[in-house]
Amino acid sequence: IKNNIPQDKGLDHTLQVLKEGYHFIMNRSEKFDSRIFETRLLGEKVICLIGKEHAGLFYDNEKFIRKGAAPGRIQKTLFGLGGVQGLDGREHHHRKAMFMSLMTEDKLKEITTMTQVEWMNEFSGLYQKDVNVYEAAKRVLTRVALRWTGMPSEEDDLEKWVNELSNLFENTAKIGPKHWKARSSRTKAEDFLIEVVKKVRDQRLNVEKDRAVYQFSWHCDSQGDLLDPHTVAVELLNLLRPIVAISVYVDFMLLAIHDFPEETIELKNGNDDELKYFIQEVRRYYPFFPFTTARVKRDFIWNDYRFKKGRLTLLDLYGTNHDPAIWSSPDQFYPSRFESWQGSPFDFIPQGGGEFDIGHRCAGEWITIDILKATLDYFINRIKYDFPVQDFDYSMNQIPSLPKSRIVISNVRNI
Ligand code: HEM
Repeated sequence: IKNNIPQDKGLDHTLQVLKEGYHFIMNRSEKFDSRIFETRLLGEKVICLIGKEHAGLFYDNEKFIRKGAAPGRIQKTLFGLGGVQGLDGREHHHRKAMFMSLMTEDKLKEITTMTQVEWMNEFSGLYQKDVNVYEAAKRVLTRVALRWTGMPSEEDDLEKWVNELSNLFENTAKIGPKHWKARSSRTKAEDFLIEVVKKVRDQRLNVEKDRAVYQFSWHCDSQGDLLDPHTVAVELLNLLRPIVAISVYVDFMLLAIHDFPEETIELKNGNDDELKYFIQEVRRYYPFFPFTTARVKRDFIWNDYRFKKGRLTLLDLYGTNHDPAIWSSPDQFYPSRFESWQGSPFDFIPQGGGEFDIGHRCAGEWITIDILKATLDYFINRIKYDFPVQDFDYSMNQIPSLPKSRIVISNVRNI
C-alpha cells in the first residue's frame, strides 16, 4: 500500500488559496502530477480531489459524509444551520425529497414563464437607458423567487428582499464588516420566515397549497413530526437565495455575449438545444462555486491510498470543469462541445455531481438552466442594446467572481 497521498509541504496554505483562488487545486494537481493530494488549510489537514474518477469517489455515500464538513462561517451566512446540506443518509434523503418534489415539469415551465414576464416588466421602464444587468437580474429573480415559492410580499418590500438575499451569497467568503452584514441579513430573513411559517400553520396566512411556503411548512421529518419553524425558514432560504444568485450566471452570460459574438449567431433562431449548449458552456467556463466539502466517513483504502476517518475533503468543481482529461481546449468558450457530451454525473459539475435524490447534487440545477435559457432568449431575441466602454475583467480569486463593471448595456430597445 502506497499510503502516501502526495503532501503539499508547509504549515498552512490558506493564504495561497486566497491568492490562487479558483486555480489553487489545479495548480497543485499539476505540480504533483496527481488528482489527489493533501494540504493544510485553516490549521487542518485537507484532502483535495479533482476530475471525473475522483468525483465518483467523493459522491460515494459509504465513504463520505457531510456532517461537520462545511466551515462554520459559511453555514452562518450561505447555508444556515440545520439545512439539507449538512444531513446524511436517511435524514438527507427524506429532506431532499421535499426539495425535489417541487421540481416537476409543470413547475419548471411555470418558472420559465415567470422569468420571461419579469424581464419584460423590468425593462418596460428602462428603454433607451443604461442598465446595470447584474442589478436588474437581482430584481427580476427576486420577484421570480418570491412568486414561485408563494412568499407573501409587496412590491414596496422588493428592495429589502433583494438586499437581504444578495447579502447572503455576495458576502459569503468575506471577512470583517461584510461577513457581519451577511450574518445580520440571515438573522433578519430567518426571523421573518419563521413568522410566515407560524402564520401558515395557524391559518392566519393563506398560501397556495402547491407552493414551497405551504409544502415546507407542513413537511414532516422521517419520524412524522413537523420541522421546527427555524429549519423551515433555513430551507425556504435554500430556495430564495440561490434563485437570486443565478444573477451571477446572468452577468457572465452577458459577458459571453459580448466576448464571443460569433457564438450567438446560432441562438437567433431560438433553437432550444443551441440555447442550452450556450448556457451549459457559461456554467462550465466561468467561475462560481470553487469546490464542495465532505468528511471521510470511516477509514478506507482506495486505489492504494489510505483515507482516515474524519478527514476534511474538497472536490474541485471549477477544476473538474476545466480538466483537460475531460474537456479539449478547456480554456476556450465553445458551446458546441455540449452536442457530444454524454451526460455523465461526474465530469460536468458546476452545481455538484452525483445524484439528486440520495446525493448532495444541487436541487436547483434544472431551475437554473431553465431560468438562464429564458433569460438568454430574452437578451438575444427580444431586445437590442449596445455595450458601452466598461471594465469587462473579472477576478479569479473573489467568490463569487463577477465582471468588474457588472455589465452595463445602453440604448436598450425592442426587436
Ligand atoms: C447544492 C451550486 C442554484 C438549491 C448546491 C451545491 C452547489 C450548488 C455547488 C453543492 C453540491 C454538493 O455539495 O455536492 C449552485 C449554483 C447555482 C445554484 C452555482 C446557481 C446560482 C440553486 C437553485 C436552487 C438551489 C436555483 C433552488 C431553487 C440547492 C440546494 C442544495 C444545493 C437545496 C443542497 C442539496 C443537498 O445538500 O442535497 N448548489 N446552485 N441551488 N443547491 Fe444549488
